[in-house]
Amino acid sequence: MKRTKLYKKALLAACLTATGYVQAQQSAPIVVKASQIVSDVQPTMWGVFFEDINLGADGGLYAELVKNRSFEFSRPLMGWKAEQDFFDESALQVLNRLEQNTANPRYLRVTKNSNDTHLSVTNEGFRGMGIKKNLRYDFSVLYRKPAAGISITLELLNTTGKVIGTAVVPVDVAGNNWQKAAVSFTATDSASKGSLRVAFKGNGSIDIDMVSLFPSDTWKGRPGGLRADMVQKLADMKPGFIRFPGGCIVEGFDLSQRYQWKKTIGPVEERQLIINRWNFEFPHRAAPDYFQSFGVGFFEYFQLADDIGASPLPILNCGMACQFNSAELVPMDQLDPYIQDALDLIEFANGDVNSTWGKKRAEMGHPAPFHLKMMGVGNENWGPQYLERLALFTKAIKAKYPDFIIVNSSGTDPDGQRFDYLNTNLRAANADVIDEHYYRSPSWFLSNAGRYDNYPRKGTKIFGGEYAGHSDRVVDGKRQNNWQAALAEAAFMTGLERNAAVVHMASYAPLFAHSEGWQWTPDLIWVNNLQSYGTPSYYVQQLYSLNKGTSVVPALVNGEALKGQDSLYASAVVDKNTKEIILKIVNASATPQTKDIVVEGAAGLSKNAVLTVLGSQDLYTINSFDNPAAVSPVTSQVTLSGKNKLHYTAAPYTFSVIKLSMGAR
Ligand code: AHR
Repeated sequence: MKRTKLYKKALLAACLTATGYVQAQQSAPIVVKASQIVSDVQPTMWGVFFEDINLGADGGLYAELVKNRSFEFSRPLMGWKAEQDFFDESALQVLNRLEQNTANPRYLRVTKNSNDTHLSVTNEGFRGMGIKKNLRYDFSVLYRKPAAGISITLELLNTTGKVIGTAVVPVDVAGNNWQKAAVSFTATDSASKGSLRVAFKGNGSIDIDMVSLFPSDTWKGRPGGLRADMVQKLADMKPGFIRFPGGCIVEGFDLSQRYQWKKTIGPVEERQLIINRWNFEFPHRAAPDYFQSFGVGFFEYFQLADDIGASPLPILNCGMACQFNSAELVPMDQLDPYIQDALDLIEFANGDVNSTWGKKRAEMGHPAPFHLKMMGVGNENWGPQYLERLALFTKAIKAKYPDFIIVNSSGTDPDGQRFDYLNTNLRAANADVIDEHYYRSPSWFLSNAGRYDNYPRKGTKIFGGEYAGHSDRVVDGKRQNNWQAALAEAAFMTGLERNAAVVHMASYAPLFAHSEGWQWTPDLIWVNNLQSYGTPSYYVQQLYSLNKGTSVVPALVNGEALKGQDSLYASAVVDKNTKEIILKIVNASATPQTKDIVVEGAAGLSKNAVLTVLGSQDLYTINSFDNPAAVSPVTSQVTLSGKNKLHYTAAPYTFSVIKLSMGAR
C-alpha cells in the first residue's frame, strides 16, 4: 500500500475515533455562533485567474494542435519541417501580403513540378500533439490554387513516425479566391507526441494558410474550441469569477505587445498574432515558439465564464506597459483610445444587439448579454503615472455606467512603499476594489491569516487577485506545488473568509502550466498533451469554493478568532440556502489537535456531520500525472458527541471542512 493511502486511512481513523485519541491534549472549545451573522459572503468570493503563461492558452486551453498555423511566428516556418526528395529552392515560399492583410499577412506557397516527387510539411504541435485512439479529428485549411493538378493528403503520425490517421483534403476549387477546405478522420492509435504531415501530391501550385487540426472532444463539442479536461477542472471548482487575460500579458513588454481585446474577436484568421511576453521573459525558461494566436480571445473568455457560471472579470491595459520591462507610457492626452476600448468592452459584453459592439457579440453567436459588472484597469501598475491614468478611466466609465465596479491595482507586492502609496491614495479616492498580490513563502501566509482583520469595513473592498505559497522546496529550479504551500494557503484563506466583509474576491495564480512548457511555478493545474491534474492547492481552492456559504459567522476560541494559536486556524460560514453550517479548520502543526466544536444558535442540528479532510504527513508531498490524488479530499461522516457538540481531532498537517445541517432534528 502506498504511503499516501496509509496516511488517508490514518486521517479517517484519527477523525472518526476522535474521542479515543489519547495523544492529543484537549483545550478550550471552538465556539461557532451560527446565528450571529457577521457579513455576507459574496457570490464572487472564490474565483480563478487565467493568463496565457506556461502554455496556458496556445498549447493548452485552446485545443488547436497545429503550432504556427498561419506562418506568422517571427520565423515563419517554426514548428514546421519540410521534406522533399528533390532539390527545389522555390518549392516552399512564404509570401507576405501586408498591404492587403495586416492581421494575417503571411501564407505558404507550395510549388511542385513533378507528379513523382515527395513534398510535405510536418507540424510538430506544441511539444508534440496529444492524440487519442478512435477519436475524430477535424482538419481545415485556407487555400488558393490557380489550376487543378495539386492535391493535399494528411498523415497523422505517432511519436515514432507511424501513421495513425490519414485523409485526403478536398482542395478542389481552382481560382484566385481563398477557399476553406475541411476533412475529418479518426485516429487509429493514441500518441502523446504526435505530429501532422501535410503532403502535396500531383503537380502545380497552391497557397495555404490557417492549417488547423482540432480534436472533436472539445468542451461542449464546440468546433475550434477548448480542451475539455482543462475546462472541466475549472467547472469542478464552481468559481465565482474568472479573471482574464492576465497578468503581465495585459501590460506587454512594451505597448505594441499589450493585450488589445478588439484584435481577439471575430473570425480566427482575422485575429492578429503577437509574440507572447513569456516567450523571452525568463532566459532560464525561454520559449521561442510561444506566441498568442488569440484563438481564445475575449468572446471565448466571456463564453467560458458563462459556461461555468463565473462572473467575467476582464483586466485592461491602462496606458502603461510593464514597469519592470519598458515602462512605456501613453501620454495623458492620448489615452482616449484606451479608455474607449474599456467603454466598448462593456458594450460588447452587455450591449443591445443593435449597438455597434453588441452586434459583434451577437454575430459571434451570443445575442444574450454576458452580464459584465466589473473590470480591472491596469495589472501590477504603480506610481503617480498609474493613478493619473486610472482617474481618467474611472471618470469616463462611471459617467456612462455609474454602478460598474472598477478593480484598481496596488502594484506587485502586498507591502512596501509602492503598495503604501497606492493603498493610501486609492482609499482616499474611494476606489471600488483594490487588487492585492502576494507570492510569498508558506510562513508569510501562516503569519498573515489576520491581515484583513483590521481593514476598514466600509468603503473600498479587496480582491486577492494573485497569490500562491512559494514553497521552500525547490527542485531543478522549479518551486513545487507541495502540501506545505497549499496548507499555508488554506490557513491564510480562513482569514479571507472571516473577512468576507472586506474581501470580495480572491484567486490563486497562475492557473495552468504545461509540464514541458512552463515559465512560472507554482501553478494550480498541471497538464501535458493528454492529461491534467490538480495540485494540492487546487483542492484547497476547490474546498473553499464549494463550501463558501452565504454568510460569515464567528468561530472563536476564548472569544478570539483562531489565526495561528497552537498552529490552528479556523473560519465558519452558514449557507442560508442549504441550511448548513460549514467550519474550516487548519492544523498546521506536526501534532494532532483535539477540540470540542460547540455550535451555538442553531436549533436542530443533525446528528452527523460531513467531514472532508485534505492532508499529508509529509509537507513535501506533491500530486503528479502518475499520482494525481496523492493529496486530495477524503470525505466521511462523523457523529456529534452531544446535541450541539462535536469532539474533533484535527490530524497533523490537515485542512478539514466540517459541514453540519441545521433544522433536521
Ligand atoms: O501570475 C504570474 C504573474 O505574476 C502575472 O502575470 C503578474 O501579474 C504577476 O507578477
